[in-house]
Amino acid sequence: MRYRSIRDFIQAADEIGEVKTVHGAALEQDVGCLTELASEMDGPMLLFDRFEGYPEGFRIASNLYRNSLRRFALALQLPVDSHPIDLVKLLRERKRKQKPMPPVFVADGPVLTNQLSGADVDVERFPAPLWHSEDGGRYIGTGDLLVLRDPETGWINFGTYRACVQGRQRLSLWIIKYKRGRMIVEKYWAQGKPCPAALVLGCDPVTFMAGTSQQKYEHAGALHGAPVEVLEAPLTGLPIPAGSEVVFEGEIPPIDEESAVEGPFGEWPGYYSHSGPECVLRVQHISHQDDPIIHGFPPLRPVLSWGAELPGMAVEVWDHLERSGVSDVTGVWGHCHGLMLVIALTQRYPGHAEQALMTSIGRISGGMYGYVVVVDDDIDPSNMRDVLWTLCTRVDPAKAVQIAHNMLTSDLDPRLSPEQKAAGDYTMGRMLINACKPFRWRESFPKTNIFSEAERREVRQRWSGLLQELEDMVQGRKRSDSLSLPERAGERVRV
Ligand SMILES: Cc1cc2nc3c(=O)[nH]c(=O)nc-3n(C[C@H](O)[C@H](O)[C@H](O)COP(=O)(O)O)c2cc1C
Repeated sequence: MRYRSIRDFIQAADEIGEVKTVHGAALEQDVGCLTELASEMDGPMLLFDRFEGYPEGFRIASNLYRNSLRRFALALQLPVDSHPIDLVKLLRERKRKQKPMPPVFVADGPVLTNQLSGADVDVERFPAPLWHSEDGGRYIGTGDLLVLRDPETGWINFGTYRACVQGRQRLSLWIIKYKRGRMIVEKYWAQGKPCPAALVLGCDPVTFMAGTSQQKYEHAGALHGAPVEVLEAPLTGLPIPAGSEVVFEGEIPPIDEESAVEGPFGEWPGYYSHSGPECVLRVQHISHQDDPIIHGFPPLRPVLSWGAELPGMAVEVWDHLERSGVSDVTGVWGHCHGLMLVIALTQRYPGHAEQALMTSIGRISGGMYGYVVVVDDDIDPSNMRDVLWTLCTRVDPAKAVQIAHNMLTSDLDPRLSPEQKAAGDYTMGRMLINACKPFRWRESFPKTNIFSEAERREVRQRWSGLLQELEDMVQGRKRSDSLSLPERAGERVRV
């Protein structure tokens, strides 16, 4: 089923038992902390409602598909119980077939049900949490899309940029310097004009995902297999998804005319980062559905095995390896939000693993990818236990590790020294680890002492009842473990 709005998707996720509604959570602490805890336990999506001081039905949905392959697959209409690597394979297959599709305009949509302008414009009508306890403000935009039109080419761009409430009619935006969105805004500023903008606070998950693509609406259409329906936003005429929940329209004046101190904000590498004067959106018009659902996608410490963009990144790296002549790749995955990339392959010749290592760093430039590991094809790269075991038993650290120097990193990299930042040196080393059995004597490498897949299958069939009982016991234990997480997680972070 194709989703036209975030609420369509929430309903579909609810039908497979993947949504938990939470009433009465406090915006200062509960929403952020519960989102973090639910995510750490690979829990369901959370739909927060009934905030004190806000109308019932003004909701926030968090953990839409973060850390849940089931919900990620559901969003993309793929089999929900796929193995991670099968999901990457399915996405690669889809990518080969899909064609960009421009959006289609429709005249009306539920987002136009409520219109606020003039003195009625008040962004504080909507709940905005303090997502992390030391954030510099309340971020209403974390799972948002800022829609802009390039004044020279007419290109419609959108991307996710964090948006902090700075008053009834003002938000600050952090649009990083080299982003296309920033370049568009600066084109207006160069003409001495403010940039018209529409900030969408909740739309269908596939259009949201397309915010990080190059082709935006056309990519969303390709992923949907049908054009995205858009309508002209009432004030700016910018095309917004017809299924949007809330849309703030207005203008972004030149930063030297108006700015606001933005941040710090708990960012995705797991640290508070960036604070300083940033541009603002002067909000002049609000459209919203009845009972609007704001998409909350706060960054969380990436202790989790994967982040929202990970399967897409695995697809890109895998395609790149094949295009570059690295054959026999059997899987690609990333851990810690992709900061560690793992490639599995069947070794065919000496230097095959090194070739994969060297080639991969050509594709993953411009991010904090500190570690790249190549493993044999008996290892599931998406299984961290397998990867750790391989690192500990197949690697001679003196011989199998190489360092690539001066690779581009991100300004969110906590390991960039103050001196590097001051000098504008955004580079970091990268560790390349060949964790495969040494090619020359791989056939005589000691045998692994676990049962084969065929043997496991047989035993699973014979003992399915017992194994189900064990599984239920483990799940039950996991649940009670998670209940005691708040204190322990807090302690861990502070140490
Ligand atoms: C959940 C999420 C939050 C993001 N937050 C920001 C942000 O605050 N600032 C920013 O510049 N980019 C942020 N990004 C990355 C941009 O949205 C992404 O790079 C996008 O491709 C930018 O598009 P553009 O190059 O067309 O401007 C975020 C991405 C996601 C998925």
